[in-house]
Amino acid sequence: MAKILVTGGAGYIGSHTTLALVERGHDVVVVDNLSRGHAHNVDPKRLWRIHLTDTDALVRLMRAEKVDAVIHFAAYIAVGESTREPELYFSNNVGGSLALLTAMQQAGVKRLVFSSTAAVYGMPERVPITEDMPFAPVSPYGDSKVMVERILGWLDQYRDLRSISLRYFNACGADPQGRLGEEHNPETHLIPLLLKAIETGVPMTVFGDDYDTPDGTCIRDYIHVSDLAEAHICALESLLNGGPSDAFNVGTGAGYSVLEVIRAVEEVTGRKVPYEIGPRRPGDAAVLVANADKLRTVLGWRPQYSDLRTIIETAWEFEKKRIAKGQ
Ligand code: UFG
Repeated sequence: MAKILVTGGAGYIGSHTTLALVERGHDVVVVDNLSRGHAHNVDPKRLWRIHLTDTDALVRLMRAEKVDAVIHFAAYIAVGESTREPELYFSNNVGGSLALLTAMQQAGVKRLVFSSTAAVYGMPERVPITEDMPFAPVSPYGDSKVMVERILGWLDQYRDLRSISLRYFNACGADPQGRLGEEHNPETHLIPLLLKAIETGVPMTVFGDDYDTPDGTCIRDYIHVSDLAEAHICALESLLNGGPSDAFNVGTGAGYSVLEVIRAVEEVTGRKVPYEIGPRRPGDAAVLVANADKLRTVLGWRPQYSDLRTIIETAWEFEKKRIAKGQ
């Protein structure tokens, strides 16, 4: 059992990972300033409401709790917002990470799992995407993650900080036992928006049907959040066992178009999704699909929940609960 500090543990992926860590027998402290996360996602006994730039408080906490490793989720994640507020994304995502890394150095914590993204690849020349393909971000959000990955490369060399960057494809779904789910505000992600369209009757917009794909809509690699949580545990345990720094894609290798996802949502819910076709969204690549072989072969990761049906069933169960609670 290890003592793990999770930043952003009140957010979507952070809270599911915290749950998985606790179930695996690890001891977890969560640091979250609740600017985007939700206090109800974390056991209050674990939650420290600290900003990442409060270096003294972080160092004190890491020393007092004898933290063995950090999993760093805390960041802003909206691609569109990052194009309107680039300074916010660089100061929060890069500045926040640098402050955390400084505190880790002062407290002598040498292991880190970092939330990166498929957005580091931008508009890749070929799919499936392998980890050796070049960084080519097309948004401040994507570049903020590239910058942190680069900093981690230098800290591996000069600070003996061992880190694993996990480049997520499209995180989705909810805890299969219904304890947690996706609650972004505002919501921008496809599956929760489709479920909301069913609930409200207000049509959602499909961003473009003239891409070079079989049905003209964009293809993405949808990965269940609990499988994503498991990837963090594989990465963490590798580092705790003395494994080297590295970067891994986290996806399934299977791609679904927006229209295929809509059809799957209709099958699972038994309801029609009201939608209309709109213009393309700037910055969307036609196809983003991972080659995730490295994570399976090097770290032994095995996804369990990432078939589209299970993803939508778990997301729908969570959404129905929210509706029942009037949230
Ligand atoms: N889409 C629509 N209508 C909507 C919302 C989404 O048609 O209202 C489409 C998008 O065009 C895209 C697909 O649904 O083709 C998925 O879109 P999301 O916004 O759910 O996710 P993205 O693929 O844009 O982005 C996700 C993460 C990013 C990450 C990126 C990397 O949200 O943080 O994957 O691939 F950078």
